Amino acid sequence: MATRRNVLAVVALALATAVSSAAPAVAGSDNDTLRAAARGSGVRIGTAVDMNALANDAEYRALVAAQFDSVTAENVMKWEAIEPQQGQYDWAPADRLVDFAKANGQVVRGHTLVWHNQNPSWLTEDAFTPAQLRQILRDHIKTQVRHFKGKVYQWDVVNEVFNEDGTLRDTIWLRNLGPGYIADAFRWAHEADPKAKLYLNDYNNEGINAKSDAYYALTKQLRSQGVPIHGYGMQGHLGVQYGFPGSVFDNVRRFDALGVQTAFTEVDVRMILPVDATKEQAQGYGFSTLLQACLLARHCVSYTVWGFTDRYSWVPGVFDGQGSATPYTEALEPKPAREAIFHTFQLAR
Ligand code: XIL
Repeated sequence: MATRRNVLAVVALALATAVSSAAPAVAGSDNDTLRAAARGSGVRIGTAVDMNALANDAEYRALVAAQFDSVTAENVMKWEAIEPQQGQYDWAPADRLVDFAKANGQVVRGHTLVWHNQNPSWLTEDAFTPAQLRQILRDHIKTQVRHFKGKVYQWDVVNEVFNEDGTLRDTIWLRNLGPGYIADAFRWAHEADPKAKLYLNDYNNEGINAKSDAYYALTKQLRSQGVPIHGYGMQGHLGVQYGFPGSVFDNVRRFDALGVQTAFTEVDVRMILPVDATKEQAQGYGFSTLLQACLLARHCVSYTVWGFTDRYSWVPGVFDGQGSATPYTEALEPKPAREAIFHTFQLAR
C-alpha cells in the first residue's frame, strides 16, 4: 500500500516523458499488455464489451482477452436487454460475456440494475401503481442479481441518480417510490448476492462538485443506516476541450475515508474532430489523471475504459463532431493514450 501512495511524485515527473515517448508497437509479448502492467497494482484494468463485436471481430476479441482483466457489458445487462418483456429474461448475450470472462481469467462488473435510460417500453409506458412498480423493481433486481450470483463481482446498482446541482434526478422511480428506492435497491441486491460489491455510479462526479458532494452525503447516510453499499463509481467520460478534474484525487480520497471502494467505470476522453497530436497528448494526460487518482487511493479497485477502440465507440453517435475517445484507433493501433495508461501502471509498480 505504501508503494501505491508514494507514486504521485514519480508519476507526475515521468508522465510527460511517458506520454511523449509513447512506443508505437502493439503489445508484442505478454509483458507488454495492459493487464500485465496492472498486475500487482491492486487496480484491475477493464473494458466495456460490445457483444456483437466480440462475436464477429476476431481481432477485437483477441485484444479484449489479452489486454484486460475485467469486463463490463456495454449494453446486454441493461433492463431493456435483459427483461424485454415483463418477467421474460434474455440471459444469453450476458451469459456469453460471463463465459468469455471465465475462460480468460477476467472478472465481470455488472451494469446496471436501476437507471432512467434503456428501460423497456412495457415498464415506462404502462401505467403501473407505485406498489406495482416497487414489486417490479424488486423482482427485477432480485432475479438479475441471483442469476449472476458468484459470477458478477460488482454491480452498478443505481446509475446516474443525481442532477448536476446535487438534487435527485426526476425519474419513474423517484416519482413513484420516493428517495427510499435507492436504499431498497441496495438491500434487494444484497439479499440476492451477499458477496457482490454494490456501487453507486454516475458521470461528472469525478472531481469535487455539487454532484459528488451529494454522493458523498448519500453514501455517508446510507452507511450510517446500515444499508449494504460498498462502492462509488465514477464513469469518467471526459473531453480534452473541457480540461480534467483537478480535484479527482481529493474526491476519491474522501470516499476512501468513508470506507467504501471506488472505481473508474467508463473512462473515455473525447475530442472535437479532427484529431491532432496536441489533442492526443492531452487525451493521454486525461486517461492518466484518473488512473493516477485510482492508484494513489487505498480502496480504488478498478479502472475501466468504455470501449478500447474507436472502431466501436459510442461517442461519435452521441456527441456531434466528436470522437477518437478510446485508447486504440479504428485500426486497433495503440494511441498515446494507451501508452499513457500502460506507463502509469508501470510506474506504480
Ligand atoms: C451507452 C452505450 O455505450 C451505448 O452503446 C448505448 O447506445 C447507450 O449507452 N453512461 C452509462 C452507459 O452508464 O451505460 C452508457 O453506455 C454511456 C453513458
